[in-house]
Amino acid sequence: MNVGALIQTRCQESLIESIYKLLNMNKYNNLATIILAAGKGTRMKSETPKVLHKICNKEMLLIVTDIAKELGSAKNVVVVSEEMLSFNNIHNKDYQLVIQKERLGTGHAVLCGLDNMKDFSGNIVILYGDTPLVKQERLQEMLNILNTTDSGLVLLGFYSKDNKNRYGKLVTSGNKVERIVEYKDASNEERSIALCNSGVIAVKSGILNNLIHKIGNNNASSEYYLTDIISIANDHKIDCVYIECEEEEVLGINSKAELAVAEKIMQQRLREKHLQGGVTLIDPESIYFSMDTIVEADTIIYPNVYFGNGVNISSNTEIRSFSHIEGVRIESNVVVGPFARIRQGTVLEEESRIGNFVEVKNSQISKGTKINHLSYIGDSDIGQKTNIGAGTIICNYDGFEKHKATIGNNVFIGSNNTIISPLTIDDEAITAAGSVITKDVEKGSLAVSRSSQKNLPNKAVEYRKRKSMQ
Ligand code: UD1
Ligand code: MG
Repeated sequence: MNVGALIQTRCQESLIESIYKLLNMNKYNNLATIILAAGKGTRMKSETPKVLHKICNKEMLLIVTDIAKELGSAKNVVVVSEEMLSFNNIHNKDYQLVIQKERLGTGHAVLCGLDNMKDFSGNIVILYGDTPLVKQERLQEMLNILNTTDSGLVLLGFYSKDNKNRYGKLVTSGNKVERIVEYKDASNEERSIALCNSGVIAVKSGILNNLIHKIGNNNASSEYYLTDIISIANDHKIDCVYIECEEEEVLGINSKAELAVAEKIMQQRLREKHLQGGVTLIDPESIYFSMDTIVEADTIIYPNVYFGNGVNISSNTEIRSFSHIEGVRIESNVVVGPFARIRQGTVLEEESRIGNFVEVKNSQISKGTKINHLSYIGDSDIGQKTNIGAGTIICNYDGFEKHKATIGNNVFIGSNNTIISPLTIDDEAITAAGSVITKDVEKGSLAVSRSSQKNLPNKAVEYRKRKSMQ
């Protein structure tokens, strides 16, 4: 093949690829999810609805809707009970809430969801709000089957390690599913089927809309079982197939014990993600992340560090042991800890140092500034290359309101200072050790605010003598 022909072929190939990508985009824009979340969750023994309990600092429900978003789902409908609406954090712009007035079963819950998406046609993925460990790539795999084969419905199955489990069982023939039998309705033989139903389903909307109305409630629970849709689909000659995943991926959370198991699994996933991203975790098992923690490559995290929500760390930073960090942007070449507490609204600019037993809240610590020992810095704006001496307390709160301290560049705050906000300490200033700073300090000035020292000759000797005679 000559060069011209080769270039032409390559151009055609990339054109075909672009068209394919466009089609693919379209494919996933034509995706909606229905997330079932109307369960009471009584076993959680909590006032908070089950799906609002958090894993790695994020509500289970939002973990599930995030997966839907990443998949490219254009519409997400979350089915909830009426009483759940009174919880503020159930409301979120990422999904539409639909109320299931009476809890009549999973089939009925899906019907409530469908009532709110009458104009939608495409693929629908049905998820549970209390099953947040399902992986995006698994759903992708299910959708690919739906898009590239004649199957009208794809189920996610798994083998349970618990041989006394009470899951719905998949009755299969090859990779096709003929029906699902719920545990309560199953014969002894059916109960011994090892392949279980996770509840996750990908289905074409036309099929779901047509068949959902045919589900009845003539069963042991008198509920409308969504799972009955499989045998109904088979009666209509619609192929239903399944893929498999690990049991842990479809762990349903019903109790605080299961919540703790899910936390453990998700923490492990986050650790693996950060390790793969080039972050050094000296003892991964002892480091706790939030779902939204961002850490750039070449950062070293020492054992026993906790990251709350909203942490964003640039490269080449060191986070030393026993530090508790949340709501902070940490730029590159910063060292934090050991034993540091960094709180909401803080920015640590590059090359700054926060040492042991230092707490920083809602403060800007500029480039090259050091706060190395035993200090509290709240609501402060500190310039570049400033040194804050050991034991400095910024008194930002008067019991009623918070006040701000502004400290300039190249300032030296002596040890054991009490700085009473609001005030400004200008560039190049020095404050003497042990000072209580209540007023502004002008540029280049030395502020001394402590009583002057008196030495009383021989008084120590006299004092000791008196004491020993008593
Ligand atoms: C369901 C499946 C079962 C599967 C199991 C996996 C049915 C009939 N059974 O059983 O095959 O093995 O999940 O965990 O689907 N929900 C509502 N409204 C309702 C009923 C349920 O929103 O009226 C929600 C629940 O909040 C939950 C999900 O649907 O998120 C599943 O309901 P649940 O009662 O836990 O079903 P299982 O009996 O576990
Ligand atoms: Mg369940």
